[in-house]
Amino acid sequence: MCGIVGYIGPRDCGPLLLDGLRRLEYRGYDSAGIALIDQGKINVRRAEGKLRNLEAAFYREPMPGKVGIGHTRWATHGRPCEENAHPHRAGSVVVVHNGIIENHLALKKELQSRGRVFESDTDTEIIAHLIDEALAAPQGGGHPLHAALRMALARLEGAYAIVALSEEHPDVIVAARAHSPLVVGLADGEQFAASDVPAVMEHTRNFVFLDDGDTAVLYADRVDFFDGEGAAAVREPKRINWDPVSAEKQGYKHFMLKEIHEQPARIADTLRGRIDLENGNVELGEVDLPEGFIRDQLKHVQVVACGTSYHSGLVGRYLMESLARVHTSVDLASEFRYASPVVDENTLCIAISQSGETADTLAALREARRNGARVVAICNVMESTIARESDFVIYTHAGPEIGVASTKAFTTQLTALFLLAVWVGRQRGTIDGARGQALLTEARHIPSVIEGLVSNDEIYLQIAKDFSHARSFLFLGRGINYPIALEGALKLKEISYIHAEGYASGEMKHGPIALIDDDFPIVVVAPRSKTYEKTFSNLEEVKARGGRVIAVATEGDTDIERHADVVLRVPHVSEELQPLVTVIPLQLLSYYIADFKGTDVDQPRNLAKSVTVE
Ligand code: F6R
Repeated sequence: MCGIVGYIGPRDCGPLLLDGLRRLEYRGYDSAGIALIDQGKINVRRAEGKLRNLEAAFYREPMPGKVGIGHTRWATHGRPCEENAHPHRAGSVVVVHNGIIENHLALKKELQSRGRVFESDTDTEIIAHLIDEALAAPQGGGHPLHAALRMALARLEGAYAIVALSEEHPDVIVAARAHSPLVVGLADGEQFAASDVPAVMEHTRNFVFLDDGDTAVLYADRVDFFDGEGAAAVREPKRINWDPVSAEKQGYKHFMLKEIHEQPARIADTLRGRIDLENGNVELGEVDLPEGFIRDQLKHVQVVACGTSYHSGLVGRYLMESLARVHTSVDLASEFRYASPVVDENTLCIAISQSGETADTLAALREARRNGARVVAICNVMESTIARESDFVIYTHAGPEIGVASTKAFTTQLTALFLLAVWVGRQRGTIDGARGQALLTEARHIPSVIEGLVSNDEIYLQIAKDFSHARSFLFLGRGINYPIALEGALKLKEISYIHAEGYASGEMKHGPIALIDDDFPIVVVAPRSKTYEKTFSNLEEVKARGGRVIAVATEGDTDIERHADVVLRVPHVSEELQPLVTVIPLQLLSYYIADFKGTDVDQPRNLAKSVTVE
């Protein structure tokens, strides 16, 4: 996730672009840059790190220009540094981009074979080269820069929001969108492009939200819109009346709620470019293990992580054992390093961390490496310490997570673990091509399944009213859904301050059943699965003792209604993918209970987003 802003009009726009980037910093903050056209020449200024570094560089030596673009980056390809910061330049063209170009390696090779020289490791630079090449002989009518943009787009696979400028055509900015957000702001005599409304809402309230496939040509006095076929299109502007603070949250009351709703897109980003459906396989070129290691040498997978990331690791164990048949242990990172871990050169250690800076996880992965294990990090922050100290990194593409309670980082970790387990299983022959195809086809549908779940959240308002006075909750789950019960309990605790415990359903009769009365709600994660009948019996035990039950159950399961006071429905999906779906109602449940209680949802007391102490 990155932030983009563009301007064309009568004002010297450097400060305006920087101000827009500041409002987009929540989308990424590892480097930033701007490009301005001044007297027919493009000047670019970029800086590594937070936006303040770029601001300092700009105000030390201000750059004039009435046409410009800017970018704040969240690295996905190429480490965060000045060379990889946007805008990227090729010949007379500069480009800013948000998204992932899946076929960038093939395109880069092709461009290099024609003598094109690259200065960064990003996928974005190829876009600048493609447009610059096409500008030499733009095909199709209309503005030449737009024609060149469309020729470049025809070569791209993946997701993008792109804004570009050319020294040869200082009368326009061109923009394009596919699967990454982009809005055009319309005003009298000046026009704007941005990833998101708040970037420029101080200057205009009239916005066109581009559709996928749309392109736009921004002149100072008008904007021409085109559909995916390149035909002129009418795009009606919408008037935005949000206040600027809620606009940064895209109208959501809290970042946590926004991040819950973002999950379909972020899971799709994490899958993007990694599925080889034809062969029922996964492409994880980033895990460059020695040939044959997975097939012949791997004896043991060891997961280390903390908190929510630990819960995703527990799901990972289930996946690794059921799909790839490798013995897998999962340890809390803080415990692992003081135990006597049995790991060696036949072990693959998976270190899971959203922030990439958690001190306990870092210490655990160092311990695993000291013992000879190879370490794969599943991490959300590029060039974080955990990413740098691991042998390989699978990046989750959750984008910056602002809410302290982890939501989209968790589901993108689950996605990465699922891909890794299928990848290992295919190499060890425990999954054949047909099974791989079936699993991966279903995985591709998960974003739309989750879309359905997050768009229907009214039921939670009523639950919040009915249940938020309880002093304690019990969350139950079995098998692959046991970690989801743990995660549900953690979410409720951390943001609503209500005590909650997660338990394996089968363990309830060994102790916690003594606690059950009508003031002790039980949340049971009970989708149709091979353990459904057993979980159902546990529910009967609860009901017989007067407990109030909230059940997460499969659509069409009417039996559950006899034993649950409230049923939160999820569509049927295969067991391996269930956690991605069953956790969503629990995130929403915690969120709405916390909001009803009026706690500080995004910054709960005593917690920090990145825990760098042991
Ligand atoms: C809970 C939460 C924490 C983190 C834990 C590990 O919502 O966010 O439990 O999961 O502190 O953090 P990372 O994943 O950054 O290592």
